[in-house]
Amino acid sequence: MMRRLGILLSGRGSNFEAIADHIDRNELDAQIAVVISNVSQAPGLEKARQRGLEATFIGSKGLPREEFDRRLVASLEERQVDLVCLAGFMRLLSPYFIKSFPHRILNIHPSLLPSFPGLNAQRQALEYGVKYTGCTVHFVDESLDSGPIILQAVVPVLDTDTEETLSARILAEEHKIYSKAIRLVLDNQIRVDGRHVVEVAANPGH
Ligand code: GRF
Repeated sequence: MMRRLGILLSGRGSNFEAIADHIDRNELDAQIAVVISNVSQAPGLEKARQRGLEATFIGSKGLPREEFDRRLVASLEERQVDLVCLAGFMRLLSPYFIKSFPHRILNIHPSLLPSFPGLNAQRQALEYGVKYTGCTVHFVDESLDSGPIILQAVVPVLDTDTEETLSARILAEEHKIYSKAIRLVLDNQIRVDGRHVVEVAANPGH
């Protein structure tokens, strides 16, 4: 049964922690096989170690993108990871990486894609003046924040919001929908049909 997660992060790691909390509370039947960061001082790495999880730094400095990605893939394969979860991982993945885990890489983004891809999505939403924004869990393809969408949550933008207050309200939803999306994928409860991710009946074998 495929249940081993590999988490890639570059920073704080609150989405990683939310996933680990869901697992600890038996709300997500999976295990975190490894947490990998391209930033040696990423707080998320330290949080992973404190939880007794394997946490690894793989440096990207001076390496061509594909060479770095080959190291990442080798590390993930060595731990027999079934599903790769990007959780604030600030690098674009190469075609080599994407092909190594077909429909087995998820990302979370703090906007309602396809609005506001890229950096500072919450600030982009505030500056644009939208009344609602939110977060998106999607499969990762070779472009930035562009793969088929698994789940989204809507968050209202208040007149009084700052980037910080809006980000915090979105983050609370990120922490809920990421584990929910992982569960849908692990339980084979979704089917990908082009850009469309369709929910199907639960597979009784899982
Ligand atoms: C989150 O807002 C996530 O949506 C984006 O990067 C941020 C990571 O936060 N991709 P954290 O490291 O999980 O706390």
